[in-house]
Amino acid sequence: MSDDFVFEKEFISYEPATGRAFWEGKISDIGDCVYRARRAWPEWAAQPLANRIELVRRFANEVRSAAEEFANLIARETGKPLWEARTEVDSVIAKVEISVRAYAERTGKKRLDSALQGTASVRHKPHGVMVVLGPYNFPAHLPNGHIVPALIAGNVILFKPSEKTLATGQFLVNLFHKAGVPEDVVQFIVGGVDEGKKLIANPNIDGVLFTGSLQGGVSISRTLSANPAKIVALEMGGNNPIVVIDTPKLADAAALVAQSAFATSGQRCTAARRLVVLEHLYAPLIDELLKLTERLIVDEPFADPAPFMGPVIDGETASRLQESFVHLLTHGGKVLKHMRRPDDRLPFLTPGIIDVTNMPDRPDVELFGPILQVIRVVDFDAAIAEANNTRFGLSASLVGGGPQDYNRFWANIRAGIINWNRPTSGASSAAPFGGVGLSGNHRPAAFYAADYCAYPVASTEMDQPRANIGIGLKDS
Ligand code: NAD
Ligand code: SIN
Repeated sequence: MSDDFVFEKEFISYEPATGRAFWEGKISDIGDCVYRARRAWPEWAAQPLANRIELVRRFANEVRSAAEEFANLIARETGKPLWEARTEVDSVIAKVEISVRAYAERTGKKRLDSALQGTASVRHKPHGVMVVLGPYNFPAHLPNGHIVPALIAGNVILFKPSEKTLATGQFLVNLFHKAGVPEDVVQFIVGGVDEGKKLIANPNIDGVLFTGSLQGGVSISRTLSANPAKIVALEMGGNNPIVVIDTPKLADAAALVAQSAFATSGQRCTAARRLVVLEHLYAPLIDELLKLTERLIVDEPFADPAPFMGPVIDGETASRLQESFVHLLTHGGKVLKHMRRPDDRLPFLTPGIIDVTNMPDRPDVELFGPILQVIRVVDFDAAIAEANNTRFGLSASLVGGGPQDYNRFWANIRAGIINWNRPTSGASSAAPFGGVGLSGNHRPAAFYAADYCAYPVASTEMDQPRANIGIGLKDS
């Protein structure tokens, strides 16, 4: 047992919709977990690839068998509607076959043409002990998107879920164990930011796969900046724009905006935070948007009729979002729809919409909740400039226009996800997923996760030593 272990500290996760304690457990002994992971790694890495693939496929079957229980748990612990939690479980299952394919396509063995005799090839090796730090908004799907490809590649995993979604994290890890993945190969770590910091500072880890806030990502980046040997993949937030230009289908445009801004109560990294709209479309579009958002049901995850969105993750987050909304409105924003909190004791928030066109010095921060800021612009050039007016660069959508407009948008927008007549969110696991600017560190996840889970080894090979020095020798 390591010296820095603190016995008495416990973590509790709460059910956002009721405020009741949901899960509790003792903080993990980080030193011991890292020790066990390092000890387990050689045997796991030495297994044939087919064995590791077989085990993650069995894991997918375990998730299938427990799907409804898992979805219930995610819905209770995050507050997201049950229908949405079910789609998260589906994504966990789908990730397995996508990762098997990605490993073969992106990091499989390749034979190269060799001008020399013999062969030249590229193969990949795992890094070793990988720390996975997960966020609360997709507490199963997103960390699983690191864990499965990392396991296939031959790494072992220390998974610390968000301190707000520990039950989901534990359930996920138990399913790996049930499938036959050894306990020390995927470990569930209980802790918060301090334990995350201890994990990444431990000299015996080889990499950190982080999905979370800009603040967390920057801190990790700083800690490891003097240690280039560690692989670090950072998936962070966004201040994502959705741009609406001329379209005969304004009601559909409004639906795309509402879906982008308010799905998962705005707690998606790819959620639209800013609606950029041409001046002459402003009044009719906002009219459609207000009518629609008025109808969105905000309720607890299991309510009947099913809600569009549930609460945000906790009271502190709800209060911070309320303060941000007040900040916008007291600094030049014009409220189009108030964000309300019907019960101060619970973190349910209704969608808020605020016109910030005339606000000087708009803060370029991610408001991770159901707040949409609206900016009016005179033309398409101004719309593109406004969309790019952020240090982040995760997702962006254009709604309306024709193919030429979209080509211009695509060519000029700085983001890792650029869509046309589609929401900013709902990214496909079969594509790379990551952003530029402050949204990431150029190590996209999803299909390209294979790239950061293994490193390439180039080899030239002959079955016998055959060599002579052809030039520069004295006569013997
Ligand atoms: P967070 O940064 O607070 O925490 C994420 C995880 O990292 C947690 O496990 C936390 O304990 C740990 N952590 C935080 N700071 C750390 C530090 N300095 N050192 C070590 N570990 C640390 O994020 P969150 O609030 O749980 O999630 C919401 C954020 O995640 C939003 O900003 C959202 O945009 C982002 N997100 C990004 C993506 C993406 O793929 N780009 C996807 C989902 C969520
Ligand atoms: C997220 O990872 O937060 C959202 C994924 C998406 O819906 O694009």
